[in-house]
Amino acid sequence: MVDVLLGLQWGDEGKGKIVDVLAPQYQVVARFQGGPNAGHTLEFDGFKHVLHQIPSGIFRNDILNIIGNGVVLDPVVFKKEIDGLAKFNLPLTQNLQISKKASIILPTHRLLDAAYEQAKGESKIGSTLRGIGPTYQDKVARQGMRVGDILSPNFADKYNKLVALHKVILDQNNFDYASVLPQAEEDFFAAVEFMKQFSLTDSEYAVNNALTDGRKVLAEGAQGSLLDLDFGSYPFVTSSSTMSAGACTGLGVAPGQIGEVFGIFKAYCTRVGSGPFPTELDNEVGEKIRQEGREFGATTGRSRRCGWLDLPALKYTIMINGVTQLIMMKVDVLNIFDEIEVCTHYQLPDGTVTEQMPYDLCDTAVTPVYKTFKGWRSDLANIRTFDEMPAELADYVQFLEEALGLPISFISTSPDREAIIHRQAVTA
Ligand code: GDP
Ligand code: IMO
Ligand code: MG
Repeated sequence: MVDVLLGLQWGDEGKGKIVDVLAPQYQVVARFQGGPNAGHTLEFDGFKHVLHQIPSGIFRNDILNIIGNGVVLDPVVFKKEIDGLAKFNLPLTQNLQISKKASIILPTHRLLDAAYEQAKGESKIGSTLRGIGPTYQDKVARQGMRVGDILSPNFADKYNKLVALHKVILDQNNFDYASVLPQAEEDFFAAVEFMKQFSLTDSEYAVNNALTDGRKVLAEGAQGSLLDLDFGSYPFVTSSSTMSAGACTGLGVAPGQIGEVFGIFKAYCTRVGSGPFPTELDNEVGEKIRQEGREFGATTGRSRRCGWLDLPALKYTIMINGVTQLIMMKVDVLNIFDEIEVCTHYQLPDGTVTEQMPYDLCDTAVTPVYKTFKGWRSDLANIRTFDEMPAELADYVQFLEEALGLPISFISTSPDREAIIHRQAVTA
């Protein structure tokens, strides 16, 4: 079976930590979409490590990590990531495979990302400027480059043709590339050579062969469902399908192979970049959450916007993903509050109260309707089972499970691998 783990909010829910925690139960961990816009943080044995394109199963033994066909891969970032892993002495050329069908991010894709954002001015998306949108654009336009192309004698030809097209657009936007492109191209071609030592494969065979042999696959989502190209807060979204269905197209597995869908969410909400955010707290409370939760981007270092938990949004993303189990993250960040708010409904401009997401959150000014909970005001660091939780936290969890109609399988209370509250005591 392929189990899928994905973010139910606007990204940065803590996917990296949980993939690393669950990885020992799997033989394959695979990324199926996104690219270096992702920043997945893992903490263990006093180390903190941020992964961007490499799956978060990489630190566990005997796991095949796959960068799937749905990913957009930047060779330069890949080389940096591999260099950054050197100190861990991992057998990377054996336990990492890259799909030949994954798209390649060229230096000009990054420049195009910046040029498009610049042209949008005030209405910019707040992209991570990693070239994600322009690379997916070329994929859909059937003119993109793929990892398999680096093995072809026509690679430079293909590259030059695509870059010539990009330069036309950059010129039209009066975007200066001449000063940066030569160095960027040098780094790019060096990184492309570097990539050749890794297994570049038709990874859909690796995944399906693993399934035929009864091995278990964990598909690691990037970004979050509210950033999904179709169902997110369009146009303030990323350019890939971040949902469970994306795991099928992004890895080459049939829908019937999907098993559990783990939906992961923070006990509050954050968002980086522009776009609507109904429960945003642009005040002291939001600032407290930001400081306590260290809500600064793992990829760009930008300050994350913070707000209370949004149940209409969460119900929506549970629905479109077919979530089977919930995982709640960063509950410890709320330890400091006397009262905790949860948005249960939206009030529309005409006074109607609804649980449904409006067609366009950008055009429809919803007012969140909140329910207030008593805070637990205690340290959760040593708690490992649901039975030991303070009564206020237990009430909060029970309310969420009833409202969302799903069990919360576990709760995370710190960045560290070990800090998990389980439903039952776990024996090693
Ligand atoms: P991802 O993109 O979904 O993998 O999440 P990020 O790594 O971008 O952001 C999550 C941040 O929260 C990271 O800095 C994690 O180390 C941290 N984190 C994860 N779980 C917890 C938790 O339960 N409590 C706290 N305080 N931090 C956490
Ligand atoms: P992980 O996997 C949070 C946001 C950007 C921007 C929008 C579009 O770490 O959860 P893009 O570069 O994709 O064109 O940017 O999406 N964004 C993320 N926000 N976490 C991420 O990834 C994100 N990846 C993209 O901030 O608003
Ligand atoms: Mg992140």
